[in-house]
Amino acid sequence: MLRKSVILITGANGEIGHGLIERLARQADRAVITLDVTPLDSALRKQVHREITGSILDTNLLERILGEYEVDLVFHLAALLSTRSEITPKTAHEVNVEGTLNLLEFAQRQGESHGRAVTFLYPSSIAAYGLPDVATKEKAGKVKEDEWTHPITMYGCNKLYCEHLGDYYMNHYKQLSAAPVSRVDFRCVRFPGLISAVTVPSGGTSDYAPEMIHAAARRQPYACFVRPDTQIPFMAMPDGVEALLQLASAPRERLTKTAYNVGAFNPSAEEVREVVLKAFPGAQITYKVDAKRQAIVDSWPADVDDCGARLDWRFAPQYDFERAFSEYLIPTIRERYRA
Ligand code: SER
Repeated sequence: MLRKSVILITGANGEIGHGLIERLARQADRAVITLDVTPLDSALRKQVHREITGSILDTNLLERILGEYEVDLVFHLAALLSTRSEITPKTAHEVNVEGTLNLLEFAQRQGESHGRAVTFLYPSSIAAYGLPDVATKEKAGKVKEDEWTHPITMYGCNKLYCEHLGDYYMNHYKQLSAAPVSRVDFRCVRFPGLISAVTVPSGGTSDYAPEMIHAAARRQPYACFVRPDTQIPFMAMPDGVEALLQLASAPRERLTKTAYNVGAFNPSAEEVREVVLKAFPGAQITYKVDAKRQAIVDSWPADVDDCGARLDWRFAPQYDFERAFSEYLIPTIRERYRA
């Protein structure tokens, strides 16, 4: 055996990466290597086999990883989020689309080298949806995977396209070749806004909810950038990480979709504010609506239909709105800032 068998996580230093690395470290049966443009936080460093600082756009680096490691599971988390992508859309396209193409190609070549399909986990997003106006959003209710897929952001376009790209690599790769053999087993979740107690997001448009909580815990005033009635689905990070792991280990024959909605709770911004105020009395949370970011969130569904995930791979979030705050977010965040 020439190459060490490992799991690869890209964008490992991001929010999902933090949760996923800690969770995989508890399992401890597989070595993890990570790739991120920024060095891993020191707490994470000792939980992985090897940390590589570099870009998913660096194909020479990916080639070196291919030569050195046998990868049969990829969590491709690296991406620029929705607000940041509107500031630098071309860079977003490079990272989010070309980067994903590089990783799919990497997975295909890995699979060819060891003769088995590489399981490729891809976090897509509610940003893949685009509802035309708030009235339609209200009427639409729980949106199914194939409805309203007309994203209005660069990030949403990137995510939706990469879902198709993954499907191509898995089901139609080089279809005109004499003997096409796909080695990519592509699996995708469309995440709602994720809320973590241990990290603060950066560059997303669902960030108002986690920002509100973290600011209150730090006793900093916070001006929420969307209207009080704004409603989108959210999920506590541990459920997000569990969703990725459950989908990764689901038997292939059970999977009927390329991309699965997953949801947990969908409070309005005001409902989040009220819960935060109860936990941190005296917190200063006001509203200062940013019309452009508001328009983005207004185009995202108020809720998602996740029957497919529940049926096919038994997705069942542990944290509803109440429990996410009382048992995960508030105690963990309090502890974090006390420390
Ligand atoms: N949280 C992401 C964002 O706001 C949506 O997937 O960009």
